[in-house]
Formats: sequence, structure tokens, C-alpha cells
Amino acid sequence: MKHFINLKDIPVKDLRKILIDAKKRKKARKKLNNLDPDKDIPLKGKLLIQMFEKSSLRTRLSFFLAISQLSGRTLTLRPDELHLSKGGESIEDTAKILSSFGDAFMLRTDNDEKLEEFKKHLTIPIINGLSPSSHPTQVLSDVFTVEEIKKKPISKLNITWIGDSNNVLNSLVAASIKFSFKLRVGCPKKYQPDKNIMNYIKRNKNEISIYNDPKKAVEGADVIFSDKVISMNDKVNKKKKLRDFKNFKISKNLLKKCPRAIFLHCLPRGGEVDENVFKSKNSKVWIQALNRIHVQKSILLYCLGKLR
Ligand code: CP
Ligand code: NVA
Repeated sequence: MKHFINLKDIPVKDLRKILIDAKKRKKARKKLNNLDPDKDIPLKGKLLIQMFEKSSLRTRLSFFLAISQLSGRTLTLRPDELHLSKGGESIEDTAKILSSFGDAFMLRTDNDEKLEEFKKHLTIPIINGLSPSSHPTQVLSDVFTVEEIKKKPISKLNITWIGDSNNVLNSLVAASIKFSFKLRVGCPKKYQPDKNIMNYIKRNKNEISIYNDPKKAVEGADVIFSDKVISMNDKVNKKKKLRDFKNFKISKNLLKKCPRAIFLHCLPRGGEVDENVFKSKNSKVWIQALNRIHVQKSILLYCLGKLR
């Protein structure tokens, strides 16, 4: 049984297999409707249970369509309606029930330890649908989008992140180590990746450069990634943080340094990107969002031992 909690814990050959499968499946269903099944109906009879402890639009919809296209079904649980949160039912007992009623569990949580605790007690795979420390399904799908649009392996591209050192960046760092791509991070000094991430980078001798000047960070970039300055789990002084990031706004002027770069953003957006960049032809955010369906299908197949 394979879990999908953090990219750093998954062998690169498995990650690559997921991407290859996603590409094949995406191509094979060009003319199909959203709810039409893939021909091989690989997850017929399987149930994905989802639970979101935090808001979600894209992850919710893309997992719904992913399991539907694989001919399985999904049920979304509301945390406030379970005994787990209010009634004091343990994770162990909850996990036992999930395991006997369902075939995979997708959890979006604001507590990384909860993912580990569920993993300990589940006998079905668990998928991390975003936690404070990572957003692995998003970033694996973003690798897919980059390679699809740039028509090159990501290892041959210069990737830049402009923004906060958050869960999405942590997964992007893990991806840069797994897939061996160069990553530049542009952010104010105070918001640089923390010690754990820096040590992880050091241990893996990866090429990650951190700049406190956004112009330097975007030089020569093929792809610019960004995300909201204030994440869902952020308990900071929001006004101050937004002020601190003022010079890191992604504008047409900043992108003059990298005219061929595409712009990606996991969404939802805040004020970190100018409207005319977000809506420019270089912005690929809508295709990026849609690709989550395709990659998550292959993640589900990987977790359920059905990846071809
Ligand atoms: N990018 C992403 O995970 O979006 P949602 O929060 O809407 O699921
Ligand atoms: N960093 C953001 C990502 C949202 C998809 C957050 O955690 O809120």
C-alpha cells in the first residue's frame, strides 16, 4: 500500500511513472465529457473518502472528477459532522471505520501530525490534500503542467518562486530535489525557508538560490511560480506581512527580465500578482488547475496499486 503524504518520501521513479500515466490518460480522453469514464475503468467499485478541514475549491472538484473518470465514487465528509472533532472519537477508531468502508482517504488538514496519526491506523492509503507543511498533489501536477507547456523535462528548465516560504514552496523544493531542477526563490529576508528546509536542501546538495531582490530571482527564468502571501494557516500580522512583500509583486515590469517565462499560480490568488500578468498570454493558471484532475487520477492509481 502506498501513501501520498510528502514528495520527499516518494521515489522519483514512482513520481515519474505517475506523470507518464497522467500524460497517456489525458491524451486518451480528449474527446470525452468530464464524467465519461476512462476506457479501462480501473477503479470500478472503489470509494475515495475525502475530508477538508480547510476551504477548497480546486482540490475538491479535481479529486471528484479524478475518481469519477476512473469509475470509482467519492464521498466528502464534513469534519464538523464527525464525532472525531466534537465528540472526542479517536483518530484510531475513525481510521478503522474509514478503512473498512472506503478504499482511499484524502485529507486536507491544518495539522501535519494528524496525517501521520491517520497513516498509522489506516489500512487504506492516505493522500495529503494540503497541510501546513506541504501541498504535494498540487506540485506534482505543476511539474506535469510545466513539462506539457515547455515540452521539455523540468530538469532542463529554470524555475523561480516569488513569494512566501509556505507549504507549496516546500513541496516545490522537494520536487526540485527529486526531479533535479534549478530553483530560485525570491522573498524578503525575513520570510526565507526555515532551518528544516534549508537543512533538507543542504543534505541533498541541490541547486537552490535564495534572493531578496525579485529582479535577480527572475533572471533567466522559464517558469515563475507564485502563491498568496497569506496562507490559510498563517497566524501573522497580515497587514505587516503584505507590506513586507510590497516589492515582490509580480508585474509586467518585473517579467521584462524573463520574457519567455510562463506564469503559474496554484490559486486562489491575493494581491501578489498584477491583473495584467495574471491575464496575460504567458499565464497558464487555468490549464494548471485543470491538470490536477489528470495527475490526481494517476496518484490514485499509484496509491491503489493500479498504475500501469
Ligand atoms: N490550489 C488549491 O489547492 O486550490 P483549493 O484550495 O481551491 O483546493
Ligand atoms: N499556500 C496556500 C495554498 C492554497 C492552495 C495555503 O495554504 O493557503
